Amino acid sequence: MPQKRVRNHVNPLSILTEHSFAGFGNDRPIFVDVGACKGEFSAALLEKFPDHNFILFEIRKPLARKLIEKFSEFSNVVVFDGDAGRNFQKILQPCLDQGAEIEQIFVNFPDPWFKEKHKKRRFLNANILQKCVSWLPESAEFVFQTDQKFLFDETREMLRETLYDQIEIFKTSAHGIPTHWEQQKLLEGAPIWRMCICRK
Ligand SMILES: C[S@@+](CC[C@H](N)C(=O)[O-])C[C@H]1O[C@@H](n2cnc3c(N)ncnc32)[C@H](O)[C@@H]1O
Repeated sequence: MPQKRVRNHVNPLSILTEHSFAGFGNDRPIFVDVGACKGEFSAALLEKFPDHNFILFEIRKPLARKLIEKFSEFSNVVVFDGDAGRNFQKILQPCLDQGAEIEQIFVNFPDPWFKEKHKKRRFLNANILQKCVSWLPESAEFVFQTDQKFLFDETREMLRETLYDQIEIFKTSAHGIPTHWEQQKLLEGAPIWRMCICRK
């Protein structure tokens, strides 16, 4: 049987799927993986932090289905397909209401959306960060990693429009775990650009 093609880039603004979530029912700290792809990074993080809760977003449905399968035995991992931006607050808010801390939100090697007119498709944009100020606690950190220097520079520039002005540049893989994409780029000898962003 021919394999179904998984599209490389999906315009997040065209995917209108909305989810709801009742929360984990506990107040354990939470890691969020935006664009989890095949879930290797989250799986390794889960091994290091088995008592954390994990929220994974993956826009490509076939990949999201595989992620659901991959983590099916873990009650502390949930996976949502669709656009992470559209679902972000709706999924995280119930967890905050249950007293959980959103520890880190990983935006690892996001699709760069090169063209000016496509920039609004980026998950990490001024609009979402401005909204976050009203509901996401100050302590929540965004961890952003990319092999695209221009994207790193533009993201830093964009942060000036927001209250997310605490920017720490770091040099090695987040939590010592290179993501799948990162491993490939490191093999090619490409430099990686990384920053941790918050407003505390
Ligand atoms: C270049 S890959 C990086 C995958 C993984 N984070 C890594 O570092 O190996 C980007 C991933 O983000 C997903 N993605 C892109 N935009 C998204 C969005 N708005 N919401 C959720 N997932 C998204 C893509 O489908 C893809 O799996």
